[in-house]
Amino acid sequence: MNTQLAPLVDWVGYIDWTVREFHSYVTSRGSTYNAYLVRGASATALIDTVKAPYADKLIANVRELAGDKVDYLVCNHAEPDHSGAFPAVVQAFPSAEVVCTAKTKDALTRHYDTSSWRFRLVKEGETLDLGGKTLQFFETPMVHWPESMATWLAEDGILFSMDAFGQHYASAARFDDEADLDEVMQEAKKYYANIVLLYARPVAAALKKLGGLPIKVIAPSHGIIWRSRIPLILEAYSRWHVSQPSRKVVVFYSTMWSSTRRMAEAVAEGVASTGCPFKLFNLEFTTDTDLIPELMDAAGFAVGTPTLNMSLMPRMAAALTYVRGLKPAGKFGFTFGSFGWASKGAEEASRYLSEMQVEQISPPVTVRFAPTDEVLAKCRDLGRAMGERALQIQ
Ligand code: FEO
Repeated sequence: MNTQLAPLVDWVGYIDWTVREFHSYVTSRGSTYNAYLVRGASATALIDTVKAPYADKLIANVRELAGDKVDYLVCNHAEPDHSGAFPAVVQAFPSAEVVCTAKTKDALTRHYDTSSWRFRLVKEGETLDLGGKTLQFFETPMVHWPESMATWLAEDGILFSMDAFGQHYASAARFDDEADLDEVMQEAKKYYANIVLLYARPVAAALKKLGGLPIKVIAPSHGIIWRSRIPLILEAYSRWHVSQPSRKVVVFYSTMWSSTRRMAEAVAEGVASTGCPFKLFNLEFTTDTDLIPELMDAAGFAVGTPTLNMSLMPRMAAALTYVRGLKPAGKFGFTFGSFGWASKGAEEASRYLSEMQVEQISPPVTVRFAPTDEVLAKCRDLGRAMGERALQIQ
């Protein structure tokens, strides 16, 4: 496996082929925890670590290249998928200094017993000379935690970008020109939608700040390293940043006795009649992880749920809570669903849409028990209206 980013700059992380869950994110293709070793003429730095259970693998990778000579342990981000191995690494290389911002030190100290750690605090723009390899540190708040920073290796044009530009993607390949690019871009979009979307503005600010650097390699903390397709991922980030709507409508629903399913299918028929691309998801068979990237670049979405126990279906409540937290911007839509004796589900879903500032093109469309021809026609009409509006996007 090729792990070299540049002479004396190596990937030393861990490929997690089996992980399938990352704080509610379904990581169906696994992940990697990327750590990097930079060996200068006078000093060696390890940039980030891995999840705690894989500390031994990381330490073995480092020792294979540098023996016990590690002078600096850079911590770009205190989240435990990257900092979890720090206690073991500090123990393995006790003379090394932990290089981080004051905010990161505070976060590390709240996670671990750092009483024996030797900290070297750095500020925005500060440099660290390793001898022919110069590290420079840039704060990138909320990408993806308040304390996050990126590290720039000037001589080799490598940006260690932390979570930004990452993917939860396990692969034997380390670089974009060695991997299946379609899969990588699918996972990069999924990663952005699930992890970064809420922080789109801080990400854009970080891109603006770092965009002037002569970047040859972007080395994120998860997944594939970008070196041949950097314009592709930068262009994608600029689109995703604004949740840019495309000519697409998404219909997603929960159903109990198929009444709401029939309404959802009628909405989809209406969209289809306009020629607008659409996707139809029954949440019983769709994860939130897969749903949110579809909503991110849709023009609008319609949400169907029956009423259960005077509220909406629990699966729909979970999905809407997840979507509301990530706040896809600039969408339009409406809600619909069946009920038995009190109509509550579609109305409750509509409140979620209001909180997300979705422009609702209709009050909730509801029906008692089974949909009538008239209700199905109404669903088709609203689907058609959504499709026609989405097609107006240039
Ligand atoms: Fe991959 Fe925010 O940690």
